[in-house]
Amino acid sequence: MMRWGILLATGLLATTACGSHGAAPGRPAADSQVIPPSRILDASALYARNCAGCHGGDGKGGAAIALGDPVYLAIADDATIIRVTSDGVSGTAMPAFAQHSGGLLTDGQIEAIVRGIRVRWAEPNALRDAGSPPPYAAQGSGDPKRGATVFGAYCSSCHGASGRGGKRASSIVDSSYLALVSDQNLRTTVIVGRPEMGAPDWRGDLPGKPMSPEDVSDVVVWLAAQRPQSVDLSSSLRPEGGTR
Ligand code: HEC
Ligand code: HEC
Repeated sequence: MMRWGILLATGLLATTACGSHGAAPGRPAADSQVIPPSRILDASALYARNCAGCHGGDGKGGAAIALGDPVYLAIADDATIIRVTSDGVSGTAMPAFAQHSGGLLTDGQIEAIVRGIRVRWAEPNALRDAGSPPPYAAQGSGDPKRGATVFGAYCSSCHGASGRGGKRASSIVDSSYLALVSDQNLRTTVIVGRPEMGAPDWRGDLPGKPMSPEDVSDVVVWLAAQRPQSVDLSSSLRPEGGTR
């Protein structure tokens, strides 16, 4: 999948760029003669510099999930967004940004970014007519057999009968995709969709029949079970405690 190649390339660039700042501890970077980088608290500037390359300049349209999606912001709380931003997601392209996790941002800067994301993109009524959405975090372990049935009912119309791609969407069982995405991010994507790319949220796969929390958990374990089991690289890349 080309988008994932781009994402990885962006990640490498971001790392290289960060490396050049980190190279001279205590000295301001060349482009910040007035304010040292760790003092910048402007949320838009911090987002543009650290997040836009992967999550999109306008909070959407990047290779990685849209953080500016009001549905995402309605189901993911600040503590979760701050934790992921601080510590990253190991085994994926999502870097750790907090200084205590080896990144370059202070806790205050991370809080400013998350506050800024909410101020710019959250909508209080995002879920007004939605009933209660499936919870952000999985409850229970999910049933992959049932997940295959859920896939057939909710996903195959676009992603093809076996998930290898159809007329309206590409493969989601591609091993290079699945090896680099966490189960949580699969879950988030199923619940929130990628509306800017034509991927519906949990209400829109089958119009008039929203997915239940069990449907979401089951289809995610079914997808996760398509990860190549025999490739050692992918298992060593799994986040700690992640399901393979
Ligand atoms: C090099 C690319 C890259 C950059 C830069 C990046 N991210 Fe991410 N981010 C990702 C990817 C890929 C994922 C999905 C990881 C996974 O599989 O769980 C992700 C996931 C996330 C998630 C969790 C999404 C979910 O499923 O709930 C949050 C929150 C997040 N990023 C915030 C940020 C913020 C804030 C910044 C800037 C400070 C940032 N990211 C910068 C690539 C990136
Ligand atoms: C109406 C069509 C449609 C339906 C139904 C649909 N998707 Fe998608 N999905 C898309 C499109 C379009 C994309 C983004 C472009 C692409 O990957 O082709 C996408 C992307 C994805 C991605 C990858 C996201 C990324 O960041 O690369 C996953 C995972 C996914 N869908 C899972 C599912 C699952 C699971 C279901 C069923 C519960 C489902 N989709 C139902 C259209 C659909």
